[in-house]
Amino acid sequence: GMYREAARPQIHFSPSSGFMNDPNGMFIANGTHHLYYQYNPNSTVAGNQHWGHATSPDGYEWTNQEIALAPEREGQGIFSGSAVIDVNNTSGFFDGTVAAETRIVAIYTLNTPTEQTQDIAYSRDGGYTFTKYEGNPVISINSTQFRDPKVFWDAQAQLWVMAVAHTQSWEIGFYTSPDLKTWEERSRFSSGLRGYQYECPDLIEVPVQGGPHDGQRAKVLVVSINPGAPLGGSVTQYFIGDLNSGSDGFEDFTFRTNDTAVRFTSFGKDEYAAQSFYNSGDEGAIYQAWLGNWQYAQAVPTANATSGWRSEQSLPRRLRLEWVQQNPQTWAYVLAQEPLSFGSLAGTDLAPSNVSGNTTVALNGTGAFDVRALFSLPANATVEPRANLRIRTQGEGFLDIGADWAGDGATVFVDRRKAGTEWADTNHFFTDRMSASLMPVPRVANDSSSDSLIEVRVVIDRIVSEAYYNNGTSVAAVLTFWDNDEVPSFVDVTTSSSQLKLESLSVVPIASG
Ligand code: FRU
Repeated sequence: GMYREAARPQIHFSPSSGFMNDPNGMFIANGTHHLYYQYNPNSTVAGNQHWGHATSPDGYEWTNQEIALAPEREGQGIFSGSAVIDVNNTSGFFDGTVAAETRIVAIYTLNTPTEQTQDIAYSRDGGYTFTKYEGNPVISINSTQFRDPKVFWDAQAQLWVMAVAHTQSWEIGFYTSPDLKTWEERSRFSSGLRGYQYECPDLIEVPVQGGPHDGQRAKVLVVSINPGAPLGGSVTQYFIGDLNSGSDGFEDFTFRTNDTAVRFTSFGKDEYAAQSFYNSGDEGAIYQAWLGNWQYAQAVPTANATSGWRSEQSLPRRLRLEWVQQNPQTWAYVLAQEPLSFGSLAGTDLAPSNVSGNTTVALNGTGAFDVRALFSLPANATVEPRANLRIRTQGEGFLDIGADWAGDGATVFVDRRKAGTEWADTNHFFTDRMSASLMPVPRVANDSSSDSLIEVRVVIDRIVSEAYYNNGTSVAAVLTFWDNDEVPSFVDVTTSSSQLKLESLSVVPIASG
């Protein structure tokens, strides 16, 4: 692993020191994942924002790179934004000596005390060093609340499209450009939970699985808000659009949606500002989110005022829409998220091969673990049982992640109230327990007389736990600050009634990235 501190996640990216927030500028080229991030290299709280940079062959093994973008002046910041691969040299920044896949243009917000403008910088070496465009800014509307440009290429229109937040009027603006330098606003969109302000939009094309649009593609608009989340602080919501027209529903650059439900990317409290990789590949978009909540991210105990680091990024997750039952009467499309394959980092399953009742597995080693437990309840059950994964240290600390069957449905939950109390008890915003509703899936589709199933999957990586239920159709990412530098050492898998069966269990160690 890169880092040796006991709290350091091994497959989640964290900066060597300083303060990190949003993922920025992510793209994949020549098999390398490039992650940039909001970074204050000089302090363990936000301010003096730069773009830090790291690269990875797989999204798990990260190598730190030189800072990619720094402000020119005291009091200015390079705020969030995105990057594209300008293979056709629409910008004119490149010539024949620069290979197509190394023509990188970053589009970001320059934050100054008097204005937020959209600026660009180009890299002729594949994203390692950047030159700021001498014609900056490329968009200026004389606003201090206008930021976080995310750009993609619309192959049909042969135009670049930018989603950008008009933050305090709660609108996502869509701009187009032929060359990344001249931009025209085409439409605005607003919906859902508004909170204090909108931030970090992303318009992501994803494949659709199941339901009336099976096999098509749809656009999902991700919008972060802060503050104003139901649990306090920051949260990321998403809107599903353009379902019946596949990928060409955006030709007039207006985002439309028929489904106005407010849905979140995570019901855990520590996830924000998700952004997709440019050039994620044909299997569907991949994104990462910042694992932080602005209510307390600048106070967490991985740092003090002078040393340490603060914040991690989520695992890279493959996205799709899945047709999911919401309650006995209603189905809807939801965003399903699953971590990329761990490939050769995955080790040998530590779980016993025959599981039926309650099982404890020792987590041998200090790396990361991918735990998957499938539970089934017969349709004629007479109980409303609990399925639980208790992630325990050698000491007193434990984190519960599970599901409570109730009536026709279930509640999935994350309970961190005993997962380290020294720091948590000093911070009133560090919410103990989080939950969401989830319908168990019948073993035989549409057959209510068959068993109902819930899979609970948790990727444990020291202070980070990401829970994925039923193929990632419900997700919760949470941080836990274990006391006394303890690390997760056991997982106890339990059912509260013998009617609820543990059908299968795997506990796969993931080698340090
Ligand atoms: C979201 C955010 C963005 C901004 C950046 C500054 O977390 O507030 O809107 O660009 O962080 O670091």
